[in-house]
Amino acid sequence: MQKLCAWIMFLILVCPGNGQFGSENLMLPNERETLDDCQLRFHQLYASPLPKPAFGRPALLKEFAHMGAIGWTQKDGNVSWLCGGTLIWYDFVLTAAHCAQSVNGLHPDVVRFGDLNIYSSDDDKYAQQISIAKIIRFPEHRFATLYHDIALIKLEKNITVHDTVVPACLWTDDEIRFRTLEATGWGKTGFGLEQTPVLLKVTLKPIDNVECKKVYTNETIRKLRFGLQDHHMCAVDEKMDTCEGDSGGPLQTKLLHNGRVTPFVVGITSFGTACGNAAPGVYTKIGPYLDWIVETMQKHGADVDGDTYNATFCSLRFVDYREYEDSVITYRDNEYASYDSDNRHMFIVDKLPSHVVKLDWDLGGHENCYGVIFDETTVLTLAQCAAHAGEPVKHIIYSSNGNDTKVNVSEIHIHPKYTEGSGYYNIAILLLSNLIDIYQVQPTCIVHGSSIPFNEVHLFGYGRKDINSFWYFSSEPDPAVSLLRPRVTIQNATECRIPSKYSSRIEKGLTGEHICVGNDMFLVPESCEAIIGGIIDGGKLGGLYPLTFGLNQFGRDCGFGEHSIATGLASHVEWMKSVLLPNLTTSSDVLHYIDSDLHAGDSCTSYNGDHARCVPIARCSKNWKSHLSSATIRFCSSSSVVCCPLTDIENSFEVHSELAECPNIVSKLKPKVPNGSLVYLGWVIEDALNFNCIGTIITKKIILTTASCLGNSVPNFVRLAGNATKLTFETDASFVHSAFNATDNSNDIGLVRLIESLEWSSFVYPSCLWMNRTHTPLVLEMIIPSGPEDVFFSRLRTMYNSDCQRTHGTQLKEYHICARDFQRNVTCVSIPSYLQWERRDRVQFVIGFATDAPDCDSWNYMLFTRVSAFVEWISNVL
Ligand SMILES: *[C@@H]1O[C@H](CO)[C@@H](O)[C@H](O)[C@H]1NC(C)=O
Ligand SMILES: *[C@@H]1O[C@H](CO)[C@@H](O)[C@H](O)[C@H]1NC(C)=O
Ligand SMILES: *[C@@H]1O[C@H](CO)[C@@H](O)[C@H](O)[C@H]1NC(C)=O
Ligand SMILES: *[C@@H]1O[C@H](CO)[C@@H](O)[C@H](O)[C@H]1NC(C)=O
Ligand SMILES: *[C@@H]1O[C@H](CO)[C@@H](O)[C@H](O)[C@H]1NC(C)=O
Ligand SMILES: *[C@@H]1O[C@H](CO)[C@@H](O)[C@H](O)[C@H]1NC(C)=O
Ligand SMILES: *[C@@H]1O[C@H](CO)[C@@H](O)[C@H](O)[C@H]1NC(C)=O
Ligand SMILES: *[C@@H]1O[C@H](CO)[C@@H](O)[C@H](O)[C@H]1NC(C)=O
Ligand SMILES: *[C@@H]1O[C@H](CO)[C@@H](O)[C@H](O)[C@H]1NC(C)=O
Ligand SMILES: *[C@@H]1O[C@H](CO)[C@@H](O)[C@H](O)[C@H]1NC(C)=O
Repeated sequence: MQKLCAWIMFLILVCPGNGQFGSENLMLPNERETLDDCQLRFHQLYASPLPKPAFGRPALLKEFAHMGAIGWTQKDGNVSWLCGGTLIWYDFVLTAAHCAQSVNGLHPDVVRFGDLNIYSSDDDKYAQQISIAKIIRFPEHRFATLYHDIALIKLEKNITVHDTVVPACLWTDDEIRFRTLEATGWGKTGFGLEQTPVLLKVTLKPIDNVECKKVYTNETIRKLRFGLQDHHMCAVDEKMDTCEGDSGGPLQTKLLHNGRVTPFVVGITSFGTACGNAAPGVYTKIGPYLDWIVETMQKHGADVDGDTYNATFCSLRFVDYREYEDSVITYRDNEYASYDSDNRHMFIVDKLPSHVVKLDWDLGGHENCYGVIFDETTVLTLAQCAAHAGEPVKHIIYSSNGNDTKVNVSEIHIHPKYTEGSGYYNIAILLLSNLIDIYQVQPTCIVHGSSIPFNEVHLFGYGRKDINSFWYFSSEPDPAVSLLRPRVTIQNATECRIPSKYSSRIEKGLTGEHICVGNDMFLVPESCEAIIGGIIDGGKLGGLYPLTFGLNQFGRDCGFGEHSIATGLASHVEWMKSVLLPNLTTSSDVLHYIDSDLHAGDSCTSYNGDHARCVPIARCSKNWKSHLSSATIRFCSSSSVVCCPLTDIENSFEVHSELAECPNIVSKLKPKVPNGSLVYLGWVIEDALNFNCIGTIITKKIILTTASCLGNSVPNFVRLAGNATKLTFETDASFVHSAFNATDNSNDIGLVRLIESLEWSSFVYPSCLWMNRTHTPLVLEMIIPSGPEDVFFSRLRTMYNSDCQRTHGTQLKEYHICARDFQRNVTCVSIPSYLQWERRDRVQFVIGFATDAPDCDSWNYMLFTRVSAFVEWISNVL
């Protein structure tokens, strides 16, 4: 239930336009208790919704644009279409050698493209039928055997490249990783047979040659004297309900690039596609014949070379004519389609998100290792990235506004269970020597909890711009490399398929700490290499708080085709807490426990077995300090809330009734002005009245301000800011905290007493004391004096003292509170500015007073005296 609430809160916060709605009630614990506090710790006020581009364009059926039907013209003028072929150049078609002549010894004479229903004239609008000029079989092919079943057909003229007629690419690599392949054809059409009306495709699964050799031996097929050879490959239709696939037609896969798909021919249908029979089909692999194909085409006048069928160049050649990937197509019929480019799987981006940093060793910067910024001094990365060739990582580099900033790594924490080369416990924390500027960089939030609330996440990778750009209008290759952001699906352990070369890294299989991501579709090879670093969600919820689920460990092609594995952060939160959260242990022989389920007010059992209750440390007796060094102390949710024996709980002091009643009083007054409790404190100096300080009304006769402001002299007057008639009241006494030290401004709090009581109205009302000693409102207003009788307001975010401590020269005290401006790096403030929080019913609470600090220049926050720590003193004075 708790998790759910956290998410609901999160959803409200990121709703565009709702930046402020809901944030007024957020409370920050005074002590850091969890790592799941990112939305509080790096709270943002405004969300900017991104415009969503969409476009539509009519499209034609392009799926079979490379398919040709090879025909034999009969004496009566009709054509028998007996074989399939693949257009691979303007005037070249690839087919099976056995298609070079029919059983009657006749040669085919035409090839027809752009026609789905070959025996009907209904859809002939785009058909191109071209005569065959020449058929060139592979020289070692013999009609009497089933070897080297490959041939090229040269056409009499070029085809006209059109959406419906476009050459395919060739898969030339020996390695065939595809899980499925597609065969297309018009089926076993022929004389007297029922003709398949439309071009069909069937999905096949490649099977191992060893298995296939058991089916097709020299015993079973006479024409295979030497059994199957390496240039053969087999694929089977697992469903066995269709048996399309023409002889000579392609066995293909479609590879993704530029938001589109290009067919790559892997094999040529050769023999054995027996219907209704589990026997695999046998295909002639393209790879071994590439050189022959290119040389033969050259010999016959084509302007091709060794790079023509390079996957990248070939994909780019006809990019404008290719189909969009399925996810981009939002509607399609025979004639038209509409598209939404936002649905594509690959995006080119200008820069990494600001929280993703590069790790650096001063070695030239070619190491592919990244990390994510978790807070101003912390970067999360993989254990495998903590060192490179034995050298511990030296710096991290982050970019803001196009400038790179290097920060030294001062400490490296590697998960203690990690062993080198392993994919388990592969996580490390880097602590930095200097603070990252979080006005430029937005730290990441990490996703807690075992289930990821999204189906899709984003990776980052690098690859050529030309092959990845959705709007690539030039057919000229351009080797420039750009940053890519692929969209990948989260895969469960049963669906997860990883490249075999990485299986040794997870010998014991995937465990709960792994996140598997990727897509079924393969990319054009070498077009994306993922960075070893963060996975984020950049989609629906990513806007305000960048989320990191895991750190990418390994994978190929950015998780396309075969998947990528990441270290999930949620499973390592306990270890991260042990490194990152404030440590309670003061000496090694004293045991201190934190029970995060217990909160202030809950019953608990103390160190000596007594009934006890969780209370803020300040309320547990002064003896308590002695327990700290000598006994086992149980803390509740944080180190500021302790499990205190009932006998030790100091009688809660009597809060002065006027202070306790304050919220009810103000609520009834219905304040009409925002500054009804603000006053200017005035001193008569040389007959002139000088208003040098401000304070806030807390009771009818008492004004709260700072001790440093009062000094040793009682102000003579106070002037109300909320009343336009500038009413001024005389004062008769001031009270400075007895422990106030003017040297270091500790306990900087003071009170001023009026001679006459104020009258409450909706223009003059008290500011109530914030008395909660464990939590503080997150979004506060600071009232800053800007002239003798003028103030302005600024919005601040409360911070943990432990975060501010990083740049603070001395130990921050419990009675300190620090806060940061949302937009600007302001650290020194006019004295005595004060912090207030306004509840929804307009009741204002005073939270803190700014304290004078000569060394504030070197901080990254503003420091205040925390009012809740002085409620007892104020009550006593009253
Ligand atoms: C066929 O097209 C190619 C590529 O555009 C061109 O180089 C060739 O000259 C054309 N051939 C004929 C016969 O037009
Ligand atoms: C089939 O091949 C095996 C091994 O190469 C050989 O021993 C056998 O004689 C062959 N059979 C026929 C019928 O050719
Ligand atoms: C294709 O060409 C590109 C650019 O020269 C090269 O990086 C890539 O390795 C080539 N691909 C293959 C499969 O040779
Ligand atoms: C780099 O930083 C400087 C100084 O802060 C700033 O003026 C500039 O705009 C930043 N960006 C680039 C690209 O230099
Ligand atoms: C904030 O400003 C102070 C001084 O004005 C400077 O020392 C500090 O580096 C700045 N911090 C950040 C995070 O920019
Ligand atoms: C994994 O995902 C597949 C497909 O989404 C689903 O059919 C299967 O039930 C899931 N398996 C488990 C263990 O969740
Ligand atoms: C907490 O204590 C442990 C053991 O003494 C130490 O290794 C660790 O660094 C400490 N963590 C912090 C945040 O101080
Ligand atoms: C100012 O204060 C007086 C007395 O409390 C009240 O009667 C009057 O309405 C106030 N007027 C304004 C404008 O603040
Ligand atoms: C006041 O603070 C300074 C600086 O921390 C310290 O040296 C001095 O002893 C303190 N004075 C008293 C009276 O505690
Ligand atoms: C302090 O505030 C927190 C958060 O709103 C709340 O859970 C807690 O009960 C409050 N404590 C007291 C003593 O009112």
